[in-house]
Amino acid sequence: MKFFIDTANLNDIKEAQDLGVLDGVTTNPSLMAKEGITGQENILQHYRDICEIVDGDVSAEVIATDFEGMIKEGEELAKLNDQIVVKIPMTKDGIKACKYFTEKGIKTNVTLVFSVGQALLAAKAGATYVSPFLGRLDDISTDGMNLIEEIRIVYDNYLFDTQILAASVRHTMHIVNCAKIGADVMTGPLSSIMGLLKHPLTDIGLAQFLADHAKGNQ
Ligand code: E4P
Repeated sequence: MKFFIDTANLNDIKEAQDLGVLDGVTTNPSLMAKEGITGQENILQHYRDICEIVDGDVSAEVIATDFEGMIKEGEELAKLNDQIVVKIPMTKDGIKACKYFTEKGIKTNVTLVFSVGQALLAAKAGATYVSPFLGRLDDISTDGMNLIEEIRIVYDNYLFDTQILAASVRHTMHIVNCAKIGADVMTGPLSSIMGLLKHPLTDIGLAQFLADHAKGNQ
């Protein structure tokens, strides 16, 4: 499973990259705004900066909601770097734009996916990634993990190449459960990735090893 970090914060991206397990980055307009990145030129420069830090795919979301606008913006984003994946909302114009970019050889990430039907359409349009938002489904008492499971079944039935990018991951167990189901990618905050490191028996065991070593080497 690929690990993407879901942030526009350069320090968090660097920290995840330093761990050596990072495969890419996802951003969205809210995450960019949270970092205070505003204005077209600053936004484009921020994507360039992210691409400098990581080796893998970097999702950059279009703001336009009409087909022509998405094409114009997406082509500008794609020109920044080969790592850029154009992130498009799951709408009628978004699906048409996804098909357009697929035919042009530009990578896409269809975002804001909340149903199997939407994921099926995204795959039919040739999306590189489809982003089901599992945390936001959990937030409204709906089983987000179940959606990932059902999309996995449908994609496997037809051998679609579209990768399931489990998004809106909020914590470490989301990552573990996505891995059990067979999500191709997960994107989550730095804390969810770092949480994978933790086990109290590891800490206790290491402390004991070091104490025993110290006793024997006095
Ligand atoms: C995915 O690409 C989105 O950026 C993200 O995962 C949304 O997560 P949230 O529901 O925690 O905002």
